[in-house]
Amino acid sequence: MNRIDSKKLYTDRLELRIPTIEEQHRLWEILINEDINQYYFPTPDRIFSKNNLSKEKIEDLKKARSIFIEQLSNWERQEPFYKKKIESIKAQDDSQKYTWSIYLKDTNIVIGQITCQPKDNEPENIRDVGWFIDPNYQGQGYATEAAIAVLDFMFNEVEITDIKTSAAEINHGSWKLMEKLGFEFIGTKKSTYYKDDEILVLKRYHGNKELFLNRDNNHKKIR
Ligand SMILES: CC(C)(COP(=O)(O)OP(=O)(O)OC[C@H]1O[C@@H](n2cnc3c(N)ncnc32)[C@H](O)[C@@H]1OP(=O)(O)O)[C@@H](O)C(=O)NCCC(=O)NCCS
Repeated sequence: MNRIDSKKLYTDRLELRIPTIEEQHRLWEILINEDINQYYFPTPDRIFSKNNLSKEKIEDLKKARSIFIEQLSNWERQEPFYKKKIESIKAQDDSQKYTWSIYLKDTNIVIGQITCQPKDNEPENIRDVGWFIDPNYQGQGYATEAAIAVLDFMFNEVEITDIKTSAAEINHGSWKLMEKLGFEFIGTKKSTYYKDDEILVLKRYHGNKELFLNRDNNHKKIR
């Protein structure tokens, strides 16, 4: 893997910019929308342990979620985390540096975020991807466009080898996107997400450069 600095990426309609503090409040406003955070941001483990809650019980999952959402919805509480994140991106800290703010090209309109970060307990060449798009701009192919540019950079320039990622089974937009990127479905696992009274399953995906380069053929085969 090449430990190169992150850089601005361009697509036909988007500019993927290195994050700055200026757009973080807007990104937070997008993120606190339940439609965005419900399957994007898992309830952190510390909330379960600190409050003695179990991930196996639906009532506890709901309690943990409401504690987390209360914390997430408080900008004064969140701002220091955002400042720290920007500092670590500026310092090119590997845990944060491959994060982009998604702007509509030639505007100052930020519509989402995309990341390609290391995974716990995995070598740095195996990474996860994460993305969210402002609901006002969803369904127009922006996430696909951003993800292709990011993976092109990550596989060809940073030379990561693999992506391991997952999305809730009912989060069709996200796993469809993984399949459009050529990733292969490798199984399921339990999550801490829920809908009504059911604990949701995650679809797990694996990607690499070859699968990514053959994405159009692979995706047709899946369909
Ligand atoms: C997932 C997300 C980033 C997709 O963004 P987007 O810009 O709308 O995605 P695209 O327009 O590029 O669409 C990607 C594919 O998913 C499909 N799709 C998008 N939203 C969908 C939905 N709600 N239901 C079913 N399919 C959907 C699109 O049709 C497209 O597939 P197609 O080309 O075969 O038609 C966006 O829905 C989002 O921000 N979701 C909330 C955050 C989240 O869940 N993040 C991922 C956690 S794993």
